Amino acid sequence: MTTFHPDLVIMDVMMPQMDGYETLRHLKSREETRYIPVIMLTGRAEVEDKVLGFEVGAEDYINKPYSLQEVAARVKSLLRMRALQTKLRDTEKVAALGEMVDGIAHEIRNPLTAIGGIARRLYEHETDPQHREYAQWIIRSVERLERMLGRIDEYKRILVSTLVRGDINRVVEDTAREIKEYIDGLGRKIDVKVRLMPDPPPVSYDHGNMKTAIFNVLQNSVEAIEGEGAITVETAPAPDNAIAIRVTDTGVGMTREEIRKIFNPFQSTKFEGAGLGLTITYRIVQDHGGEIDVESEKGKGTTVTIRLHPAR
Ligand SMILES: Nc1ncnc2c1ncn2[C@@H]1O[C@H](COP(=O)(O)OP(=O)(O)OP(=O)(O)O)[C@@H](O)[C@H]1O
Ligand SMILES: [Mg+2]
Repeated sequence: MTTFHPDLVIMDVMMPQMDGYETLRHLKSREETRYIPVIMLTGRAEVEDKVLGFEVGAEDYINKPYSLQEVAARVKSLLRMRALQTKLRDTEKVAALGEMVDGIAHEIRNPLTAIGGIARRLYEHETDPQHREYAQWIIRSVERLERMLGRIDEYKRILVSTLVRGDINRVVEDTAREIKEYIDGLGRKIDVKVRLMPDPPPVSYDHGNMKTAIFNVLQNSVEAIEGEGAITVETAPAPDNAIAIRVTDTGVGMTREEIRKIFNPFQSTKFEGAGLGLTITYRIVQDHGGEIDVESEKGKGTTVTIRLHPAR
């Protein structure tokens, strides 16, 4: 029994070598066999026997003589329950892991703020150019870690999408406004053009999450542009009644090999990049039942298209 892990056990209480209850106790005391459902099969119909069986850990009890139909029905029901339990245990594991990542992120934040603050002071007061360079390295590394922590928070926020019917142009407009503010904040000169299709069919979307999805694409465009450049964000009809949200930039572009990897987590070509922006976008688009495509040419620019399907 310890080398072989069945999905379910039907056990006779009156087994020749070992008392059924003893076997059951053995099974239920080990982590590897604890979750295998056990049906006790017995001719002894006394209530005490049944109670003992349940106390030791049996999931079900069938009296002899039994009908095969009843056994089959009970087996099916227990297997169903077991599948649900396994799923629940997996969900709990993921939640526990999420909590741990959260806890670590929280603990890292304060010391990181302190390191950044002190490095900035050193940088301001230091006159030795070599030392100033060291301080600058610390500052940039801290900024990189802070961006990573920001992405972890963002990932947590987007885990649930609440879809509401609405006009997709509104979310594109909102995001375009935000990216313009972001560009101004950086003191960059990038022209953002917005082109919205008239009267788009209603789409079901989560406003906040969809804004995050589009913002991350736009942020990559900003980062791909060296010096001055332009970004266009538009909505347009797409095949099969879908709506396309398209972002085009005049940035550095990508090779085919680079495009292949961009949705992978932690895939980044930037010093400060967490490599999670598009992983988050991808997840959000998937939660909306949509698709995302990337076309790019090295040295020319990139177009990212998110396609959403109209609400039914
Ligand atoms: N518009 C673009 N032009 C050129 N390269 C791009 C573009 N968009 C994405 N990339 C490439 O894809 C990589 C992954 O993008 P992603 O947004 O997931 O991570 P990141 O921008 O590096 O980090 P962050 O998590 O902070 O967003 C980028 O590092 C970049 O190399
Ligand atoms: Mg990014």
